[in-house]
Amino acid sequence: MKKKIVGLVLFGAAAAMMTAGVSAEDLIKVGYAQVGHESDWRTANTQNYQDVFSEENGYELSLVDCDNDNAAQIEAVRNFKDQDLDYIVIAPIQSAGWDTVLQEVQDAGIPVIIADREIEADESLYDAWVGTNTYNEGVTAGNWLAEQLDGAEANILQIEGSVGASAAIGRTNGFAEVMADHSEWKLLDSQSGDFTQDGGQTVMESFIKSYEGQFNVVICQNDNEAYGAMDAMDAAGITYGVGGDVILISYDATHDGLQYTLDGKFNLDVECNPIQAEVVKGVIEKMVAGEEFDKNTLVTDEAFNAPGITSEFATEMTQEILDGRAY
Ligand code: AHR
Repeated sequence: MKKKIVGLVLFGAAAAMMTAGVSAEDLIKVGYAQVGHESDWRTANTQNYQDVFSEENGYELSLVDCDNDNAAQIEAVRNFKDQDLDYIVIAPIQSAGWDTVLQEVQDAGIPVIIADREIEADESLYDAWVGTNTYNEGVTAGNWLAEQLDGAEANILQIEGSVGASAAIGRTNGFAEVMADHSEWKLLDSQSGDFTQDGGQTVMESFIKSYEGQFNVVICQNDNEAYGAMDAMDAAGITYGVGGDVILISYDATHDGLQYTLDGKFNLDVECNPIQAEVVKGVIEKMVAGEEFDKNTLVTDEAFNAPGITSEFATEMTQEILDGRAY
């Protein structure tokens, strides 16, 4: 195995880069294999990486938008290895199928950080993980619903994220765990909307055809899917949100999602924080300095519900919270 020593060699230079301009060869080369551009969350996450891994901060960032194509993402990682970048960051589209390429990268001596989502691979195949706990996000949605319904019946439609993505698997499983304790809840259907607005709208239109008049809860596994679902329900004359026919729950808590929460159109928006690059940079800085770093770093999330709703599991949305949201 080739030993990667660039971090140690550049330590002095890396520190200086924080305050002064540096030559191109001194920049720390980071490859980011990004999922794609499927959602507002993803756009915010990409922008965050571009802001944090800037030349002014001492980095040369190679960001590849993999357009939700698993094979393209594995190829992007392989290309980063062939380019001999200093660090590779992966936001995995799929949780499975990483062993071969991660072994190749490890054999090349390039440190890997898994970010945002999780993978099904032995921890020895990557150096660090930074992300959110999507299982807990699902549990939060379930606990909030149980608290609000207080024993009333729920007929639930769920629009899942991309099939095989840990963010979808985690939210589905977390919510299912709470649902298992509620015999008065029925999951009428659960289909993937691929974390996109179009996907959310298409799935909701088909749900409305099959279940019109039978459902009172819609759960969308990200804000963009919820925007699509709202369009479908508007077209069908179905009301949602506070005082509506349907309780609408979303995940992400991006700016527009929180605006809809403030407006009472979303009953609940469970946060998934896209601002993760600074934490990843902190891990890389420790690697550069040869210091110990945490194998796993959790980026914490909150949940927000519409004004007028009191909950043990969510904060009541305010204009002040929205004004403080940068993404
Ligand atoms: O992995 C995070 C998820 O991926 C976000 O919920 C979603 O918006 C994104 O596309």
